[in-house]
Amino acid sequence: MGQGVLSPGFSRVGGVLHADGVSLERLAHEVGTPAYVYSLARIRSQYRRLETALADAMPDVTHRLHFSVKANSNLAILRTLQECGAGVDIVSAGELYRAREAGFGGTDIVFSGVGKTADELRLALEAPVLFVNVESEGELRLLDEVARAMGAVAPVALRVNPEVTVESPHEYIRTGEKGHKFGIPYDDAEAVARLAHELPNVALVGLDMHIGSQIATWEPYASALARIRPLFESLRAAGINTLEWLDLGGGLGVTYEAEAPADVDRFAAGVADAVRGLGVSLVFEPGRFLVAEAGVLLARVLYRKRSGGKEYVITDAGMNDLVRPSHYQAYHRIEPVTTPAGHLVADVVGPVCESGDFLALGREMADVGPGDLLAVHTAGAYGFVMASNYNSRPRPVEVVVDGDRYAVATERERLEDLVRLERAHLQWRSA
Ligand code: LLP
Repeated sequence: MGQGVLSPGFSRVGGVLHADGVSLERLAHEVGTPAYVYSLARIRSQYRRLETALADAMPDVTHRLHFSVKANSNLAILRTLQECGAGVDIVSAGELYRAREAGFGGTDIVFSGVGKTADELRLALEAPVLFVNVESEGELRLLDEVARAMGAVAPVALRVNPEVTVESPHEYIRTGEKGHKFGIPYDDAEAVARLAHELPNVALVGLDMHIGSQIATWEPYASALARIRPLFESLRAAGINTLEWLDLGGGLGVTYEAEAPADVDRFAAGVADAVRGLGVSLVFEPGRFLVAEAGVLLARVLYRKRSGGKEYVITDAGMNDLVRPSHYQAYHRIEPVTTPAGHLVADVVGPVCESGDFLALGREMADVGPGDLLAVHTAGAYGFVMASNYNSRPRPVEVVVDGDRYAVATERERLEDLVRLERAHLQWRSA
């Protein structure tokens, strides 16, 4: 992946790893490490790939890609996707704020999430968003109240848990199985839909599902749609004639190691089949698929060390910068930016004071030493957004590359940023 002009992203030019036209060696020298680097061309090409597959498979069905902001919420990335024609899927007031800052209008936004507050619902209606994906009867009733207080009618899609088996690499990223916290249990969905139809200040405009993440095959979507479509039809048959949308969520998988990426043509053809004749408009919420492979985390090797017969490569990036290896035992390919000779098997670890602070374990890799630069691949999704300040480490800089130019999209945090909201000298108030 990522080789040559036809597939933009990361490739070697004269032995040095480049992000499109920009040398990562030069970039690291200029912006420092750790650094997240994103190829805008790669994001655009992923967007086009999925959009074209869907448009070709169902020319008569209205659909839109709503980028799932949680995967990468950087304003420059949001702006790039907005220019491609995407809408967004958000899950918090913070993501709503970012989406608006990046130029998305209210109706470019769908609002998902299992625990929205009354304030967040009010902000959604002020936007106003295209629809709110409601995940419980309690949320539906609260939304109805919030809308009444505003003199509004809230457009609602019910997120239904289709309760299917989802094959994904880690249980934390499955959401559509029976008993998960997400969505309305399948057997309750019809009753909640009728309630939505009756409540005066909500309008039931659609159904929604999101079954999990890093899904490579069509089957889980097929099983889920085989449950959602009959529900949709039975609600319409019951006279709920406001139903217009089907939101199929995100989840399309990418290649981290050697996995087959999601087959988007198969996906598009499957969806086309599954919704044929339903007379519905579609929303998709891809996150990872659009941005994961467009990003690397650049880290510099600080030290090498041997302990208990094991080799360690100690880098200046740790679990606070990229938590996926530690949190999900996720594999991220690691490649030196220039190619040293020789190989070793090592644990690649960070400076954080936790034994669980690693980027890779027992990894066969190039024989790198202090000063060498490493690119940790497939870090464009759920990378920077999950970074923290643990160990009082400032979060890394984010850089976007467009052709042979680059720009800093988020400055590296400074030490003073770490304590900006804190007080050493307390102002006591009597209670
Ligand atoms: N829509 C909803 C309602 C979601 O909850 C998610 C992701 C998406 C769309 C986008 O899914 P995607 O297309 O990116 O698979 N932090 C984990 C992934 C958590 C996904 C959470 N929900 C990871 O690093 O693998």
